[in-house]
Amino acid sequence: MTWWLWTILAIFLLFGFVIVRGAPYVPSHRRFVRLAFAQLYKLSDKDVLVDLGSGDGIVLRLAAERGAKAIGYELNPILVALSRFLSRGNPKITTKPGDMWLVDLPKETTIVYAFSVSRDARRLEKKIQQTVDHNGRPVWLITYGAKLKTKEPVRTLHAHSLYLFEPQALQRGRA
Ligand SMILES: C[S@@+](CC[C@H](N)C(=O)[O-])C[C@H]1O[C@@H](n2cnc3c(N)ncnc32)[C@H](O)[C@@H]1O
Repeated sequence: MTWWLWTILAIFLLFGFVIVRGAPYVPSHRRFVRLAFAQLYKLSDKDVLVDLGSGDGIVLRLAAERGAKAIGYELNPILVALSRFLSRGNPKITTKPGDMWLVDLPKETTIVYAFSVSRDARRLEKKIQQTVDHNGRPVWLITYGAKLKTKEPVRTLHAHSLYLFEPQALQRGRA
């Protein structure tokens, strides 16, 4: 096999492998993300948004457009490079290589965005609750696609749903 066939095979395997760990690469529809950041949750310069599986970084750039600091975690190194290239020169955006299930989210996170698939919905819910309990502060979650299994959204808009996660200690205190 010639080198270019090996290259194509390697890229194919790289994009295929991520399916084991999360959603495949399909970017969110930018019009709907803009609407979600304007109407579902009014994203502002006070927010720190984390995109779990940030792909080419479109969500990060739309979040930065509204003044938010935006951090993406992406497993596929080709997409990390593409995201960094497309977001170059924007000090509000950081794209980090890594597995979203294994990273600790920054303490200052106010909102998480996840292009969710049904298979990972429970795992996502657990991950966000653990983060919130560990950091001791509430976090909003926007899912695009599959809804969470055991938590009700605060609001939905088209395929986006908004959830509020609070530290369990706070929830117990109110009960
Ligand atoms: C459906 S795309 C969404 C991209 C972007 N968030 C958007 O909404 O446009 C899912 C992305 O998650 C990445 N991904 C899948 N599993 C992952 C994991 N365990 N950790 C980090 N990224 C992952 C894929 O490579 C892909 O780029």
